[in-house]
Amino acid sequence: MRVLLLGATGNLGSRTIPTLLAHGHNVTAFVRSDTKLRSLLTSELYNMIEVSIGDAGNTEDVYLALKEHSCDCLITTAKIGEPFGHDARLGTFATAISTAAIKLGRDRGKPLRAWFMGGLGSLEYPGTGGWQIQDYMAGWMTAHHRVIERIVKAIDVEDLEWTLLCVPGMRPKSADIGVPDGPRKHGLVTAVGRPPAWEASWVRSVPLVGVYLNLVPVIMGYMAQLEDVAELIAEHLDREEFVGKLVGFKKDPKQLSKDN
Ligand SMILES: NC(=O)c1ccc[n+]([C@@H]2O[C@H](COP(=O)([O-])OP(=O)(O)OC[C@H]3O[C@@H](n4cnc5c(N)ncnc54)[C@H](OP(=O)(O)O)[C@@H]3O)[C@@H](O)[C@H]2O)c1
Repeated sequence: MRVLLLGATGNLGSRTIPTLLAHGHNVTAFVRSDTKLRSLLTSELYNMIEVSIGDAGNTEDVYLALKEHSCDCLITTAKIGEPFGHDARLGTFATAISTAAIKLGRDRGKPLRAWFMGGLGSLEYPGTGGWQIQDYMAGWMTAHHRVIERIVKAIDVEDLEWTLLCVPGMRPKSADIGVPDGPRKHGLVTAVGRPPAWEASWVRSVPLVGVYLNLVPVIMGYMAQLEDVAELIAEHLDREEFVGKLVGFKKDPKQLSKDN
């Protein structure tokens, strides 16, 4: 696919560049600063992609980038505001980006594919009869992701074939953004609408508060490495079963025991 990657200078975005290339996709990095992008990538990697300069909160910038680079897919890892708490700007990017992509899809008579990043809290909390994980978390921790979720879920898949990847905490494996030498194993398992391989801790059985306290140790088990998440996105980029869905992931417990 021809992918517009927003947030390409960020933690996840920069690591998604080589994985997309390794999977045979074309990449246009949508960034505010070309200088910053160059400083993060080797010249070899930089020369393998196209670049578009713009503001992810500006519908026109995103529309022109998608159109001029003939993109049929976008991935947004761009982030506005603080991860926690209420911020008037929350949702600005998701709104601008989806509006631009929907417009271009309508012009072409074919919807684009789009990946948005949300939070793990948007997934169903297993064993609670359909409540979300975030319903058991403090509001200030989840405000950001709730806004993105609301905007994305309101999009008709006939207009934009979206996926909301529900991301837990992520950390880097390495500071190097390497040149791709082919797809790699990421060892992550996925599930639609719920966190895969959920294992409640003993704390869950504590009356009344167990359902809240259980989340802390269990969510820690979902921490992921940025490189693996980037690989997962590239591998599943055009996966039909993920269209119009919230998707969760976790390191395959079998793989985890091999790593340790
Ligand atoms: N990191 C985590 O543990 C975690 C956990 C849950 C969810 N997420 C979600 O995953 C996504 C990626 O996270 P991350 O840690 O990779 O984020 P990050 O490192 O903070 O990267 C944010 C990116 O957004 C770009 N950006 C900010 N304002 C922009 C604008 N006006 N126009 C264009 N680009 C702009 C930044 O560009 P500049 O370089 O120009 O500033 C940067 O490339 C985010 O949506 C985040 O909410 C992350």
